[in-house]
Amino acid sequence: MATTLITGGTVVSATGRSAADVLIDGETIAAVLQPGSELLGTDVAASVDRVIDATGKYVIPGGIDAHTHMELPFGGTAAIDTFETGTRAAAWGGTTSIIDFAVQRYGERVQDGLAAWHAKAAGNCAIDYGFHQIIGGVDEDALAAMPGLIDEGITSFKLFMAYPGVFYSDDAQVLRAMQVSRETGLLTMMHAENGPVIDVLAAQLVAEGKTDPYFHGIARAWQMEEEATHRAIMIANLTGAPLYVVHVSAKQAVEQLAAARDKGQNVFGETCPQYLYLSLEEQLGATSDEWGRFEGAKWVCSTPLRSRAEGHQDHMWQALRTNDLQMVSTDHCPFCMKDQKELGLGDFRAIPNGIGSIEHRMDLMYQGVVTGKITLERWVELTSTTPARMFGLYGRKGVIQPGADGDVVIYDPNGHTSIGLGKTHHMNMDHSAWEGFEIDGHVDTVLSRGKVIVDGGEYLGAKGDGRFLKRGLSQYLT
Ligand code: URP
Ligand code: ZN
Ligand code: ZN
Repeated sequence: MATTLITGGTVVSATGRSAADVLIDGETIAAVLQPGSELLGTDVAASVDRVIDATGKYVIPGGIDAHTHMELPFGGTAAIDTFETGTRAAAWGGTTSIIDFAVQRYGERVQDGLAAWHAKAAGNCAIDYGFHQIIGGVDEDALAAMPGLIDEGITSFKLFMAYPGVFYSDDAQVLRAMQVSRETGLLTMMHAENGPVIDVLAAQLVAEGKTDPYFHGIARAWQMEEEATHRAIMIANLTGAPLYVVHVSAKQAVEQLAAARDKGQNVFGETCPQYLYLSLEEQLGATSDEWGRFEGAKWVCSTPLRSRAEGHQDHMWQALRTNDLQMVSTDHCPFCMKDQKELGLGDFRAIPNGIGSIEHRMDLMYQGVVTGKITLERWVELTSTTPARMFGLYGRKGVIQPGADGDVVIYDPNGHTSIGLGKTHHMNMDHSAWEGFEIDGHVDTVLSRGKVIVDGGEYLGAKGDGRFLKRGLSQYLT
């Protein structure tokens, strides 16, 4: 197996930074060395197969995107990135592991849902991948199957308080599933929005002729995110289940999480780049020559983009800094405008929900370092180390240390990244939700288990490089 030495860079972890060389032997990090070290009396650089010069650059653990939806069937269509195209785009952006969601629905067996997602992913991924399990139909059979997921390396499951008739669980079902969570250590992930209320509001808006994408954001009011977050926290409190709330976008929902954490409850929250940068007014309310007022469909996702005037975006950044929110994932769920988003022309309820960002998460979050909103160490913690700890991958992933997988990104703080179609875009979409974003910083080189898969603008990886990640229990269980 080849040996690689990454020299001259600044190795950044969640807890600090230092000038160090990283020695990778085959797929695994063998040593983190003083620059220019000798091993057994031999100059290391002279004895390895390959030396990568990272002078002036950051050397960080590969990104872990813990919330993606490749090929997810949704709204009469399916997310347009396959495991092949989506994971390749992830690699381009410095993400070396994803955790996607296998799906079980009413009347389906959990084991069959999981098997179907294994079949979609196996042999197709550019980077390593794991699964959470969506339990979209909490019934006796599903409840009985859930503990068996742990042996399969699936140690977290997602419930939905939204999307009645699709993935929705009522409170009694949430209770039953959380009881299993408490008994087994499976981490409950929650889509916290009051779906039944939102569906009535949405129907009323459409009946009034308010059918544009903008009204998706009005129907999915922050009050119903706050309320559902509170309800999820209280049912978790009652059962003693650990709770992780996904795609938090309302500042009031963050306040609910923070209050519960202050009382000692084991609850966590994730936000996504779209809730840090984009807004109800600017994106959902956008118009264009091509799409008119339907332009906003590009940014229809749930939870929705929130009003900048109400201060949600600033609050998300603050919560990331103060650890009221612990992680940033993308919720990558891409749909094209043509033939997919346009299913909702004339009725925003029929627009498939989702935004594609997997390629840009590391860059977009690095921008928070550039603007002083988060530190360099916090950048690594939010995008790699905490995802590894939260979802049972730490040690293997999320850290540069001997024994860890050789998943390493060399990031150039003096580089520049222009985002958009025809620029850095490798996602399988006909538009970019991030068109025109300019990033101070650039993903130069990406190694996945010791193999260089992206180097100086060239893709060197292959379909099938990625392996399934059997995960352990969350490190945040009490
Ligand atoms: O809009 C979104 N978030 N689509 C993906 C499904 C989900 O709820 O995460
Ligand atoms: Zn969701
Ligand atoms: Zn999602």
